[in-house]
Amino acid sequence: MTKVITYGTFDLFHEGHYRLLQRAKALGDYLIVGVTTEAYDKARGKLNVVDSLVTRIENVKKTGFADEIIIEESPGQKVNDIRKFHIDLFVIGSDWTGVFDYLKDYCDVVYLERTKNISSTMLREQNSPIQRIGIIGTGRIAARFIPEARLVSGISTQGVYNPHTKSAEAFAQRWEINVYPDLEDFYEAVDAVYIASPHETHYGYIRDALAHGKHVLCEKPMVLKQKQAEELFTYAKEKGLILFEGIKTAYCPGFHKLLGIACSGTIGCIRNVEACFTKLEAQGSRELTDTMYGGSFTELGSYVALPILKIFGREFDELRFDTIHDGNGLDLFTKASFLFPAGIATATCGLGVKSEGRLLVAGTKGYIVAEAPWWKTSYFEVHYEKAEAVEKYSETFLGDGLRYEISDFLALINGSSSSEFKLTRGESVALAGIMERFLQEEGRLGE
Ligand code: CTP
Repeated sequence: MTKVITYGTFDLFHEGHYRLLQRAKALGDYLIVGVTTEAYDKARGKLNVVDSLVTRIENVKKTGFADEIIIEESPGQKVNDIRKFHIDLFVIGSDWTGVFDYLKDYCDVVYLERTKNISSTMLREQNSPIQRIGIIGTGRIAARFIPEARLVSGISTQGVYNPHTKSAEAFAQRWEINVYPDLEDFYEAVDAVYIASPHETHYGYIRDALAHGKHVLCEKPMVLKQKQAEELFTYAKEKGLILFEGIKTAYCPGFHKLLGIACSGTIGCIRNVEACFTKLEAQGSRELTDTMYGGSFTELGSYVALPILKIFGREFDELRFDTIHDGNGLDLFTKASFLFPAGIATATCGLGVKSEGRLLVAGTKGYIVAEAPWWKTSYFEVHYEKAEAVEKYSETFLGDGLRYEISDFLALINGSSSSEFKLTRGESVALAGIMERFLQEEGRLGE
C-alpha cells in the first residue's frame, strides 16, 4: 500500500486545493492531509487566514479524497509524521518546489503543478478589497509601520501626510509612497488612516479622519482624556467605522498565551501584577524635552498599564502616582500603584532611570514571569512553591510585531470581530482615563 501525505492551510477552499488533493490521492492508496492550526499559520507569518481550523478540516473532508486528516502545528512536524505514519510519498504544490527536498531522505517527494489563477490570497482580496492606508506622522514608529504593513495581505500603504512638508517628502521618498501636502487630498486617497503623530494631535486627527469616513488605527496613547476616548468611540460607532488603539503588546500572540495561562487558575487567584518598562532616552530627545506631553508615563504608560487592566479589569479602588522629575518638571521615572478589590498592581516606567523591565503576575498558587522585552512577549515561565517545578512557554514574535495589530485592524474592518477582545473599547477608555489623571496630577492639563 502506498501512503501519501500532503499539507496546507486550505483557507477559503478552492479548485486549486481540490485538484491538488485529487492528484495526491491518485498517486497512492491512502492519503493523509495535514491542515495547519491558526497558531502555526500566525507563527509562520500567514496572518489573514479567514476560515477556522474546523471549517478548513470540514472542507478537506468533503472532497472525499482524504483517508485521514491530521493537524500540523509546528515546523519540525513533517519528518516526524512521515516516520510515524510510514509515508512513501510527500506531495505539495509547485509553489514550494525545492523547499521540501530535505524530506527525500525519508520518502519520495513530488511537486505537483499548481492550478493557475486561483489562490486563497486572491479570494481573500476579492472578498475584501485591499484597504489603502495612509500614515499621518513620519517619526520612528511610522517608519516601522511600513515594512510590517507590507507583510499583511489585504492592506497597502498609500501615502503619507505631515504638516511639515519636508519631513513628509523625505519619508515618502525613503519608503516609495505618495506624499499628500493637502489633508483633503490625503483623505480622498485612502480607506483607513494610521496616526503616528505627536500624542496631543491624535484627538484632532482621529475626529477629522472619522468625519471623512475613514477607519482609524491610532498609536498609543490614543488620547489623553477619558471623555475624548468615549466621544471618539461613540462617533466611530455612529459612522460605522473602526477606531482601534495600537498598543502592539495587546495583539501579540505570546502576550495572549500569557494572559490565557494567568487567567486559567494555574497560578490560583491573581493577587499582584507588576509591570516595568524602562528605555533610556538621549538628552534633547522629544520625549525628554516636550514638557507638556513628553516624559515616561505618556511614552510607556500604556504598555505597563495594559496587563494590569487585562488581568484585574477597569474598576480599581485607588490609583497613586509616585514620580521622579528632571529639572524641567518632566517625569523621568513613574510608578503607578493600583489597588483593586482582589489585588494590587504597579505599573513602572522610566526614560531616565534604568530598571529591570519585567512582567510579574503573582497568584495564590504560583507566579508568571516574563523578562524584558515582555512587551514583545516571546518567552515566559510559570513558577510554583516548589522551585524545581518550572513551566516554560515560548511563542513566535516576528519582526517589530506591528503586523499583528495591523492584521487584527484589517480583520475588524472586514467584519470579523474575533479580535475585539484583545483591547476593548472600555480598556482604551480606561487607559485614557489613567493618562488624564496622571497629567492632571502633574499639572499638565488645563481645565
Ligand atoms: N495549491 C495548488 N494550486 C493553487 C493553490 C494551491 O495546487 N492554485 C496547493 C498548494 O501548492 C498546496 C495546497 O494547495 O500544496 C494547499 O495550499 P494553501 O497554501 O493552503 O493554498 P493557497 O491558495 O496557495 O494559499 P495562500 O494564497 O494563502 O498562500
